[in-house]
Amino acid sequence: MTVQPSDSILIVDFGSQVTQLIARRVREAGVYSEIAPFTMAEAAFERMQPKGIILSGSPASVLDANGPRIPQVLLDSGLPILGICYGQQSLMHQLGGEVTGGDAGEFGRAFIDINDTCALFNGLWSIGEKHQVWMSHGDKVTSLAPGFRPVASSAGAPFAVIANDEKRIYAMQFHPEVVHTPDGGKLLKNFVRHVCGLTGDWTMAEFRKTKIAEIREQVGSGKVICGLSGGVDSAVAAVLIHEAIGEQLTCVYVDHGLMRMGESEQVVSLFRGHFNIPLVHVDASTLFMKGLEGVSDPEAKRKFIGKTFIDVFEDEAKKIGGADFLAQGTLYPDVIESVSFTGGPSVTIKSHHNVGGLPERMNMKLVEPLRELFKDEVRDLGRELGLPDIFVGRHPFPGPGLAIRIPGEVSRERADILRKADAVYLEEIRNAGLYDAIWQAFAVLLPVKTVGVMGDGRTYDHVCALRAVTSTDGMTADIYPFDAAFLSRVATRIINEVKGINRVVYDYTSKPPGTIEWE
Ligand code: XMP
Repeated sequence: MTVQPSDSILIVDFGSQVTQLIARRVREAGVYSEIAPFTMAEAAFERMQPKGIILSGSPASVLDANGPRIPQVLLDSGLPILGICYGQQSLMHQLGGEVTGGDAGEFGRAFIDINDTCALFNGLWSIGEKHQVWMSHGDKVTSLAPGFRPVASSAGAPFAVIANDEKRIYAMQFHPEVVHTPDGGKLLKNFVRHVCGLTGDWTMAEFRKTKIAEIREQVGSGKVICGLSGGVDSAVAAVLIHEAIGEQLTCVYVDHGLMRMGESEQVVSLFRGHFNIPLVHVDASTLFMKGLEGVSDPEAKRKFIGKTFIDVFEDEAKKIGGADFLAQGTLYPDVIESVSFTGGPSVTIKSHHNVGGLPERMNMKLVEPLRELFKDEVRDLGRELGLPDIFVGRHPFPGPGLAIRIPGEVSRERADILRKADAVYLEEIRNAGLYDAIWQAFAVLLPVKTVGVMGDGRTYDHVCALRAVTSTDGMTADIYPFDAAFLSRVATRIINEVKGINRVVYDYTSKPPGTIEWE
């Protein structure tokens, strides 16, 4: 079941790397949008009854006999259509224009000349102006289908933007969804608001209302159990579900003893104190710490923690007499079935753990109220639901917790040392006003000891590594470029205040080739 706003846009995915960005830009314009792979676009169209259609880019070529095609029902719908890159080429290919394989494509920044008026340019671009856009194409349109006129051109693409006003079909060779097309978001907004005539009233207040009704309908008089991880997603899901069904929801917080400083107290006081939502707080730290003794392989740690988490959770679920539903904070990026043209299964780099496996084991159905949202939208919803900013804006934290930030064997003592160093580091980041500019920052305790000198004495203690990255989705990441004075302040404080650490280093590795976590 999904929320079904009456005003929505269907985005047909032909396999571009950046299709998700189209959905984000459309939602930023206040309009609900969903992505469907081209193979499932017809079904999505019937279900959603959208008010407009956007066709994505693709690594494929329309000249390839097996290249993806726009389902005919979409072309016959009479709805406004916007074609982007491959979307433009496929429109021309299927509507009677011509596309030619490019010997020399255009990749990267380009400038287009605005040659005519166009509904997409409303209040934005005027004839005679030049604007920066982002191109990434090999093939190009060389002859227009009947009814289309060119409205903008670039050195490499004579038909950089084209329009068919009568049919309300528009298309562009460049990518408006990426930030390198500075006015791209406004072009997309013009399409959904001005051309499709949508009002932009898709807000989190609206989402909250619709979702609450939907959760009530799905759950009926059933019982729901929700595992809180301390993270934003599960917390927002739990608060929303509680608002919908009250005491039919039981929240369980399994504390594995590998949380950050003060984290467990924060979760407990947020739920019991701030929201008055009953919470089962299970201190399973002894079980986890005992099981981790002698385990130093990263995957073995992850597997043990994942399995034990499920065991503890299952025991708690049994204690309350079982549940019909399991609530999870699954997000839209995990749900989108993107089309892959590279083929082949992807390699498991790390086994991320959630409470997967439990629903089948316990015969529970899933309640996933955040399935349609991106991370930043979940944060907006959290604020809408009254979660404090300090909680909503928290950096992501992995399920296995500090265990994967302690390479080698994990012990209570090591976890305590790391917790203290991490708290100092994060405090300095907050004091410097940098917390929100960083996707994730944390300390890592290395199983390496080095010699130092403090006062008149020799020390022989652990090395602590500091990590801070910027990212939009955790898939790729760049290091955060702290200035030297900041890093040396943090190093001094950690060495002075945390017994067991006598050396601090900064991790300069981007992702790829590194991963964000060390294990
Ligand atoms: P990596 O280390 O793979 O991390 O670059 C990417 C993002 O995922 C987080 N992460 C996890 N999150 N369970 C989680 O819920 C996990 O097992 C897990 N492992 C990594 C990591 O913190 C980063 O944000």
